[in-house]
Amino acid sequence: MKSDVFNKPARLKNPPNLGDYDEVCRSFDWRSVRKELDWFDGTKINAAYNAIDRHTQTWRKNKVALYWEDEAGSTRQYTFEQLSLLSNKMGNILKDFGVSRGERVFIFLPRVPELYISFLGALKIGAIAGTLFSAFQEQALADRLGNSDAEVVITNKELKERIDKVRKKLPALKHIITVDSEDFIKSFEHVSDELHIAHMDPDEYAFMLYTSGTTGKPKGVVHVHRAILQEHMTAKWVLDLRDDDTYWCTADPGWVTGIAYEILGSWSCGVAAVVYAGRFDPKRWYEILAKYKVSVWYTAPTAIRMLMAAGSNLVHEYDLSSLRHMCSVGEPLNPEAITWAIKTFDKPFHDTWWQTETGAICIANYPAMDIKIGSMGKPVPGITAAIVDDQGHKVPDGNEGNIALKPKWPSMMHTIWRRPHKYESYFTGGWYISGDRGMRDKDGYFWFIGRADDVIKTAGERVGPFEVESALVSHPAVVEAGVIGKPDAMRGEIIKAFVVLDKKYLRKRFRESVGFPESDKKALREELSQYVKKHLAGHAYPREVEFIDKLPKTRSGKIMRRILKAKEMGLPIGDTSTLEEY
Ligand code: WT7
Repeated sequence: MKSDVFNKPARLKNPPNLGDYDEVCRSFDWRSVRKELDWFDGTKINAAYNAIDRHTQTWRKNKVALYWEDEAGSTRQYTFEQLSLLSNKMGNILKDFGVSRGERVFIFLPRVPELYISFLGALKIGAIAGTLFSAFQEQALADRLGNSDAEVVITNKELKERIDKVRKKLPALKHIITVDSEDFIKSFEHVSDELHIAHMDPDEYAFMLYTSGTTGKPKGVVHVHRAILQEHMTAKWVLDLRDDDTYWCTADPGWVTGIAYEILGSWSCGVAAVVYAGRFDPKRWYEILAKYKVSVWYTAPTAIRMLMAAGSNLVHEYDLSSLRHMCSVGEPLNPEAITWAIKTFDKPFHDTWWQTETGAICIANYPAMDIKIGSMGKPVPGITAAIVDDQGHKVPDGNEGNIALKPKWPSMMHTIWRRPHKYESYFTGGWYISGDRGMRDKDGYFWFIGRADDVIKTAGERVGPFEVESALVSHPAVVEAGVIGKPDAMRGEIIKAFVVLDKKYLRKRFRESVGFPESDKKALREELSQYVKKHLAGHAYPREVEFIDKLPKTRSGKIMRRILKAKEMGLPIGDTSTLEEY
C-alpha cells in the first residue's frame, strides 16, 4: 500500500529537519551535536536551563512557550521568560525549605502550570524531580515516595489528603508544599525570581520515574541531565519541531513522554506547546487542535482509536488545516488506526518506539523517510538497535527475537533507584534487552510483536500485574489473585483479574451454606474492581474480575500468568512441564 501520503518527501513544502536519514546515520557522532545545547564552561549542563532559560537570551524571550487550557475552558499562557522567572521562584522556595542537590522532590499535581514550573525549578537547583500521576491512590503513592525517600512533595489541597493518609509510612518526607494554599501563594509572590542555576555534571541525576515490570513493586528509573541531548535531537528530527510550530503532546508528565516531549526536548527546540488539562473527549480535542492551530501532534494509539470510534464526520466540523504531521507512542499503532488517521486528517502519521528506561525516542519513522504501515520505523541516528536471542546474539532479519539496543546512548537510564542488581539485569551480551519482542525486516525497519514478559499496556499505560495482585489480596475476600492484560480492540489491553476467594469470608459475609448467587458474585466483582481503583490507581484497576478455584502455579509457587492468558484467549496452553498439577 503506497499512496502519496506515505511517500513523504513529495508532500513536504519545507524540508524536514532530518533531510537524509541514511546520510546522517552514516557519519553520526553524538559529540557533533553537543553544540545544539548550552553548556557551562564547556563541560557542565542543566537540562531545565536548556529547555527554558537559554531561550531568554535570544529573540524567543517573549515567545509563548505554553498555551494552557483546562476542561472548563479557562486559559493561561506563558512566555519563555515568564517560565524562566517562575521556575526561578520555585527553585528559591525549594532552597528556602532546605532542599539541596540530589534530594528528591516529587510533584503530585494534575496538569496545571505549577506542575511544569515545579519540575523545572527542582532541576534548576540540582534536586532530583519525580512525577506522580494524579490518578495514584494511597498504595501507589506510599510505594513510590517510600522507595525514593522523597524529602518534599509538591501538591494541591485536594490531592494532599491522599498524601496525609500515608504520611506516617514516609519518615523521610520533611515538607509538603501545597500550591493552592494561601501560605504558598503569599511566599511565592515575595520570593526572588533570580536564581543561580546549578551547573551539573552531565551524569548527575535530573529526574526519576517509577515504572512497572512483571515482578515486584514499581522501580525507580533514574535519568541524568545529559539525557536532554537525545530528547532535543529526537524532538528536532522525529517530531520535526520548528519555530513556527504549535505542538501538542497529549501525555501527562506522570509518564516519561510528558517529561521528555512536553517539557525537556520540545521546549529545548524552542517550540510553543499546548497543554490541555482535561480528560479525553473527541470534541474538546478537535477544538484544541483547531483553536491553537496545532501543527505537530504527539499522542497515543488508544486516543486515535477512540477518535476513530467517535466517527469521521465530527472531524470535518473543525478546521485542522494547520496540522503537518502526527506521531504516536506507547503501544502498537495498528494498521486500521493509522490508515484511518492518515485518510481522515490527510496528514502523515509516524509511529515512535521507546520506553521509560530509554529516556527518549530510539526507533521511529521520520518525515523524510517512507513509512511501512505497521512498522515502528528505523533506529534514531546514533542508536544501534538489533533483534537478539536470549543470549544476546543477533538473529537474522525476518526472525523474531528481543528488541535490543547497544549501550550507551545519551538518554539511557543511569540506574534503578537503590536496586543496582535490577539495573544490571537489563543487560545481556553487551546489549540492553528491552523486554519487547520484535522483528527487523530486510530493509532495516523494526516491527513490534509483543512483550516478552507479563507487563500490561492498557490505553498506552504500563501496569505491573504484581501491583494489581497485591492490591487485590489486601481485600479480605481474596486469597490469591493472578492478573493479565486481555486484548481489547479500543484500549490495546484491559486488566483482567483471576481471583481465588476466601471461603470462610464468603460464608460469614453472605451467610451462604450452599451456592453463591450470581447477584452476590456480580456485586463482589464490582467491589474488587473499585477497591483497586480506590487504593492503587484510577487507571490500573481490573475492568474484569473472574472467580477461579485455583491459580495455575509452578512447583515453586509462581503464578503462571501466561496460562491464564492462554486460557482466556482460547489458545493452547503450551509447555506445562514445570507446572504444579492443574
Ligand atoms: C513500552 C514502554 C516511552 C513512551 C511511553 C511508554 C510499548 C512503546 C511502542 C510502539 C508498540 C510500544 C512497549 C514498550 N511501546 N512504543 N511504537 N509500538 N509498543 O513508555 O510506559 O515505559 O512503556 O511501551 O511495550 O516496552 P513505557
